[in-house]
Amino acid sequence: MAQPNFLNVGVIGTGWVGGIRANSCAHSALVDELHIAEIDAGRQRQIIAETDPASITDNWQTLIDNNSIDLIIIAMTPETARFPIVMAALNAGKHVFVEKPLAPSISEAEDAYALATAKKLKISIGYSRRFDPRYVYVKKALMDGAIGEPVTCLISRHSTRELGEKITGRSKMSPTSIGGVHDLDFLLWCLQPRKPIRVYSQQAGKLFSRKSDTPDHQWVMVTMDDGTTITAGVGWILPVGYPNYVQAWIEVVGTEGALTIDDTHKEVQFNNVKDGIRYPMSSMPGEPVDHVFAGSMQDETVHFLEAVAYDRPAMVTPEEAILVMKVYNAADLSAERGEPVFLPRNGS
Ligand SMILES: NC(=O)c1ccc[n+]([C@@H]2O[C@H](COP(=O)([O-])OP(=O)(O)OC[C@H]3O[C@@H](n4cnc5c(N)ncnc54)[C@H](O)[C@@H]3O)[C@@H](O)[C@H]2O)c1
Repeated sequence: MAQPNFLNVGVIGTGWVGGIRANSCAHSALVDELHIAEIDAGRQRQIIAETDPASITDNWQTLIDNNSIDLIIIAMTPETARFPIVMAALNAGKHVFVEKPLAPSISEAEDAYALATAKKLKISIGYSRRFDPRYVYVKKALMDGAIGEPVTCLISRHSTRELGEKITGRSKMSPTSIGGVHDLDFLLWCLQPRKPIRVYSQQAGKLFSRKSDTPDHQWVMVTMDDGTTITAGVGWILPVGYPNYVQAWIEVVGTEGALTIDDTHKEVQFNNVKDGIRYPMSSMPGEPVDHVFAGSMQDETVHFLEAVAYDRPAMVTPEEAILVMKVYNAADLSAERGEPVFLPRNGS
């Protein structure tokens, strides 16, 4: 087996998700030095205690200018401020892993992929569902023909309102483009080589809309070119259950069988006098629990480290990432117009 190139990694933004990425890097034998950029002084102290980084700064440019850093993970918010960092990292010759969305527009995403290709750099996007064993089982069952021809696939996902308020407070993105995007990516990946041809979406808003124009929930129906249907819904107003609680329900029905996945995270219940029942270890990405992680984000992070260290392909191809963007853009347009949107649009 080829010897890996040991890596110096920079993580920009170490809140909830960037914190999991930084901890994953700190646990990995492939990582030589970990460097962090984080603007919040309190969070800096916590992440130093958790990961013992080689350096920490409040200025992301310092990591870009550090020639010893091979790979940058970008997990800072708001999402709208992230694209210049992606391009700066690529221009500086660093491999890039970025949380979704990769870019504000499809043309900017294409620019990032073109730059990465020209510089022979890897770039990937955080679609963590692809590393959850239960989800991968669905893909394998479909690929193996275990349930025959797929007929219809549903994912319904809800997070608590504390998470919804956090997300909607920092950017004006639709529920589908910031949350449902995971499920669209996953189902489009599962159903390859089928292509989406028709997208219909509706939004509902009765709670967050009292304060802003943010909807509470969005359903998207996608018809694939062989007639398979996808229904993916995401909402963010559940009552508080546990910090970062997210629940999902999945049904995949085919001509010869069906798969149902209960991804509601109810298997671990914690009950105390102060708060009543809570569901710990219930977040979608999976926080560290001592020496292990409670979800798939660590595996995803290690996959990208390995892709760079061993020069292997990274999960999520440019074509897949761009297709997901086209579908969620079509969904938002459909919700706005109240009518279906057909793909490809304008020949693209
Ligand atoms: N893959 C998944 O399952 C998944 C799940 C949830 C969120 N996400 C993605 O992760 C991203 C991060 O979400 P989060 O909940 O961790 O956000 P967060 O608010 O908890 O963390 C963001 C961090 O970035 C820091 N920051 C802000 N500006 C900075 C700057 N200029 N330089 C350095 N640090 C800066 C903040 O201080 C904060 O600590 C989101 O964009 C979201 O798309 C992915």
